[in-house]
Amino acid sequence: MTKDEIIHHLAHTPLTQLLQQADQVRKKEVGDEVHIRGIIEFSNYCCRSCLYCGLRKENKNISRYRMSPEEIVQLALDIARQGVKTIVLQSGDDFAYSAQTIATIIEQIKQKADVAITLSLGERNFKDFELWKKVGADRYLMKHETADPNLYARLHPGKTLTERLKAISVLKTLNYEIGLGCIVGLPGQTLDTLAEDILLIKQFEADMAGIGPFIPQKDTPLKDHPPGDLELTLKVLSLVRITNQTIHLPVTTALATLDPEQGQLLALGAGANVIMPNFTPQRYEKNYNIYNNKAKVTLALTKNLIKRAGRKSGQGKGGSLKCKKLPKD
Ligand code: 5AD
Repeated sequence: MTKDEIIHHLAHTPLTQLLQQADQVRKKEVGDEVHIRGIIEFSNYCCRSCLYCGLRKENKNISRYRMSPEEIVQLALDIARQGVKTIVLQSGDDFAYSAQTIATIIEQIKQKADVAITLSLGERNFKDFELWKKVGADRYLMKHETADPNLYARLHPGKTLTERLKAISVLKTLNYEIGLGCIVGLPGQTLDTLAEDILLIKQFEADMAGIGPFIPQKDTPLKDHPPGDLELTLKVLSLVRITNQTIHLPVTTALATLDPEQGQLLALGAGANVIMPNFTPQRYEKNYNIYNNKAKVTLALTKNLIKRAGRKSGQGKGGSLKCKKLPKD
């Protein structure tokens, strides 16, 4: 699909038509399984100043926490005992955890549980990424957030899109399965930008992509900016599925927050095939408020949702499906 075609679909194709097409592609290419990834948000310290995010370092209105390595490992093993086959370790960009500390956490989880590990720890240097891969990390989530370099620079003081894409390329070179993704409804974003987002995901041959609406956070500079549009978010999701047939697409928590009644079911009907229930301990979880009223996605609710959608829970680790097909297919 060309950029102009994508822009045309975003502007003019009825949502129902895109949903139908995305659902067909999803069914044919990745089937009915919905993969469950258990996420641990282990630290809300962050050295960045992203204008949309409640974890930004300037925010003095959240109480900061760090889980200890022992606590993280125990929780990961507990999640694995509940049958979840992927553990996602996420935090703000928090350099208080040394590369070695993170490596030890990965090693200990891998020694004791048969799970895939996804890291979502922001930008670190080549050596850190390399070490973590060596000790067993499988995947890395590093959303590109927006493919517009000027908008990127405005929203991420002191950072550039080029640096971000460089970090993603490094992860790819190191053989991580990689996750990109963008926020829909950022100030100044246009349909042109969203088309670029979709093309970037394709260009990087991403293994996964997280697409969620912008949700304002009360203690950020974007607190008065309206939330992203549900229909537009679903259109982007559908088009990512249509253009990247075997990609893993999570039902984002942001979508569950934007529309608590229908958001997740709608996403499952728009090509999504992954859900990430949250296992962050309750005493910390309320402080991981990247945006207002973040939905609490539990394992029980997730299983129920998969049933209601007429789908089935994934049995394996749900690794990348990108290379499963022979070229002639
Ligand atoms: N609205 C929507 N998504 C947000 N994120 C951070 N802040 C917001 C917000 N206000 C997303 C970013 C980040 C992920 C962990 O959360 O895309 O990559």
